[in-house]
Amino acid sequence: MPDTSQCRVCSGTVEQFFDFGRQPLADAFVTPGRAEEEFFYRMAVGACRTCTMVQLMEEVPRQHMFHEDYPYVSSGSTVMRAHFEKTAERLLDTELTGPDPFVVEFGCNDGIMLKTLADRGVRHLGVEPSGGVADMAAAKGIRVRKTFFEESVARDIVAADGHADVIYAANTFSHIAYVDDIFRGVRELLAPTGVFVFEDPYFLEIVERTSFDQIYDEHFYFFAVRSVQEMAARHGLELVDVERLQVHGGEVRYTLAHPGARTPSPAVGELLAEEEARRLTHPDTLRGFGESVDRTRERLLALLRQIRDEGGRVVGYGATAKSSTVINYCGIGPDLVSFICDTTPAKQGKLTPGSHIPVREPGAFADPYPDYALLFAWNHADEIMAKEREFRQAGGRWIRYVPEVRVD
Ligand code: SAM
Ligand code: TMP
Ligand code: ZN
Repeated sequence: MPDTSQCRVCSGTVEQFFDFGRQPLADAFVTPGRAEEEFFYRMAVGACRTCTMVQLMEEVPRQHMFHEDYPYVSSGSTVMRAHFEKTAERLLDTELTGPDPFVVEFGCNDGIMLKTLADRGVRHLGVEPSGGVADMAAAKGIRVRKTFFEESVARDIVAADGHADVIYAANTFSHIAYVDDIFRGVRELLAPTGVFVFEDPYFLEIVERTSFDQIYDEHFYFFAVRSVQEMAARHGLELVDVERLQVHGGEVRYTLAHPGARTPSPAVGELLAEEEARRLTHPDTLRGFGESVDRTRERLLALLRQIRDEGGRVVGYGATAKSSTVINYCGIGPDLVSFICDTTPAKQGKLTPGSHIPVREPGAFADPYPDYALLFAWNHADEIMAKEREFRQAGGRWIRYVPEVRVD
């Protein structure tokens, strides 16, 4: 297997630093009896020697991941709904104060962010290729185009609606390998004084917390301020602001503008200096990350085997896309985790990709409570633990593996 590839941002050499082996698609839940249709690929991750962008070594074709049955529905979390309402309010107060502002969001999913803007009568358009969730957005009164965002789509939007004051994408830009085409589209669509705002998991957090489960097919890039700044400059835009966010285990919201249109905020330099001080993409750091991943795997497996051997029962909480990496890399099967409960109707009654652990509705969790709950949706810990207070009161214990394996 080659351990280098060509950088999708700058054509430099990407050097592999961790190989998870053969993995299924993280959101490809299996209908019982139809496991032979599963798609596998080699999941490995590397860093570009030139521009430092961390990326997957192999790209999965986009239509395998984002289609009519894409199961992830954004509005399942109360905390995320509040986060995106706040985001929309902030845009209304800052960027959308002109007479007839226009916002384009790509990857709008079920309309979790655009809903607030649509309700306020702001001109908007969602671009969302996954048909099922796009229909949910449309049902909320959101204008949505069922397609992948790319340059040709951007050009069509300009012809029909004019230039955008804000182009927004949450947990989506890092999913798209073909950044050159995206940047051409953004440059054409963005008004001269407009901003392109996107938020995605922060590679610094992934390294610091060993949250290796952020690595799966849909997450093609693992952004950091240095790599995003270089990518923006290479593609004719300027990074003018960064803001750390707590959601999804630690993200950064990046703001890009046409070169010279805005004065860059001091926050950009501050976070760049922090990445530099922590030697974020230095080979030693990346090697250390790999060692931490394997330590987590050993400890989690040892714990689950011990519980099983002592006759305890473990149920998984949250059939997240992230859980696919943990489950398949660690080799966790239904013998160690009997089922996983999840609120998403499209996941219930299915089996997890690769490992074939049944997914059940949340009501199954308390029927009866297991001895342990393995919290796969660790990024929603506060919300879930508040909701499931009675589990602990009944003597149940939570298992977490980020930042390290812990029972409490
Ligand atoms: N923005 C939502 C959020 O933060 O909860 C949804 C995030 S979801 C993980 C990623 C979304 O991006 C999916 O709904 C997917 O269909 C969409 N997507 C993937 N590639 C895309 C592309 N090229 N253009 C527009 N949307 C895309
Ligand atoms: P995410 O980490 O990618 O947002 O996925 C969260 C998954 O966890 C999603 O499948 C929904 C599920 N979930 C629950 O089952 N219960 C909950 O209370 C929350 C917040 C999420
Ligand atoms: Zn590069």
